[in-house]
Amino acid sequence: MKILEIKGGHKLTGTIRISGAKNSVVALIPAAILSSEDVTICNVPDITDTKALCEILDFLEVDVKKATESLIINSHNMVNKEIPSDYTKKLRASYYFMGALLGKYKKVTMALPGGCSIGARPINLHLKGFEALGATVTNNDNIYTVEAKELKGANIYLDFASVGATINIMLAAVLAKGTTIIDNAAKEPEIVNVATLLNNMGAKIRGAGTSSIEITGVEKLNKCFHEVIPDRIEAGTYVILGAAIGENLKITNIIPEHLEALTSKLEEMGVFLDIGTDYIIVSSSNNYKPINVKTQTYPGFATDLQQPLTPLLTLCKGQSKIEETIYENRFMHIPYLNQMGANIRVKNQTSTIIGPTKLTGTDVVATDLRAGASLVIAGLMAKGTTRITNVEHILRGYENIVEKLLDVGAKLELKEI
Ligand code: EPZ
Repeated sequence: MKILEIKGGHKLTGTIRISGAKNSVVALIPAAILSSEDVTICNVPDITDTKALCEILDFLEVDVKKATESLIINSHNMVNKEIPSDYTKKLRASYYFMGALLGKYKKVTMALPGGCSIGARPINLHLKGFEALGATVTNNDNIYTVEAKELKGANIYLDFASVGATINIMLAAVLAKGTTIIDNAAKEPEIVNVATLLNNMGAKIRGAGTSSIEITGVEKLNKCFHEVIPDRIEAGTYVILGAAIGENLKITNIIPEHLEALTSKLEEMGVFLDIGTDYIIVSSSNNYKPINVKTQTYPGFATDLQQPLTPLLTLCKGQSKIEETIYENRFMHIPYLNQMGANIRVKNQTSTIIGPTKLTGTDVVATDLRAGASLVIAGLMAKGTTRITNVEHILRGYENIVEKLLDVGAKLELKEI
């Protein structure tokens, strides 16, 4: 088992380059099989989620050529087989193969995807979309079969602006007959990145990034070249770290507009941010005001950043609050932060952080991806040594996190125990 051992209390200075977005690439890889020609995707982050999806491509006999930070995917000789849970349980985003295989073959059989323990994470809205397109869904002991004689465009209203459902329905609709409208669609930048890939392949998608997306079915999709957008959650995590213990810490290769909900909250706290065209420079200060944050769908404050933000709020002079509105169990980092010396209580999906408090290193557990990121930030802020177990959660979503932190002066080591 791997653990991350952090010796905290060191100022971080230098440059961290942000990688391609995990929550985009995990949809782009399945989407690529909708073409039967070479689909080249560059700026691919080398994270375990990418590896897990490439294992599924190999299982389906898709031809994958790997180069540095890029993949060339060709599904010309692929075989549409039942995807067992050994593959799908590794990550929730395996469910994008449902939309892609349904869209390509009008049939898919696969085990229910896995995911973090942050909530029930049902897929009812995905299945509602598939059924609206004419598919029937059967579930035998969590093995889903979704099939259709013909996929026909439909008007689909999403009860919740679900990121996954929006993308999965797009994947199923691009080769359907006729036009599909997704209303109350999610507006996250990753959705625009996927729609751009599909349009580069020859699809006809309009309105991605707005709450109404129109997909006009086409006969076939072709080869293309595409780039993964920078990871706004990785970027936000490191900007928060810089506000906690940075000294002119420069976060580069970002799209600042994707971080506006975070940067405006940090500025409200009293963090000074030098925001450039594709970078942010941030330094810590010892005079932070408390803030109130409520997680929302994009462009609101990202739920994925509320956990990394929490340790920073322990520096504020007063009471801050974070209300989590997207997931039902996204506060599992709090007990560990309190063990480190924080003063945080949770009630009715809202955490209240009383500051300022000093953090001291201790042994903690990463319960999910962003809780793990929160503990890394806390460990780097704390006096003494912090050991994080279950660190595999963190490696799923933060490419080369140890190297990136060592390069800016952090003292940490990934150990096998
Ligand atoms: C994506 O998950 C991201 N994951 C999540 O990031 C992110 O937190 C989330 O969007 C919201 O931004 C990937 O992109 C791989 P949702 P997704 O569908 O698509 C409910 C991370 O840390 N819901 O918008 O699963 C669901 O229970 C991860 O990188 C239904 O009820 O998010 C949840 O409460 C964590 N029925 C809410 O919607 C459905 O059919 C948000 O889900 C689908 C979702």
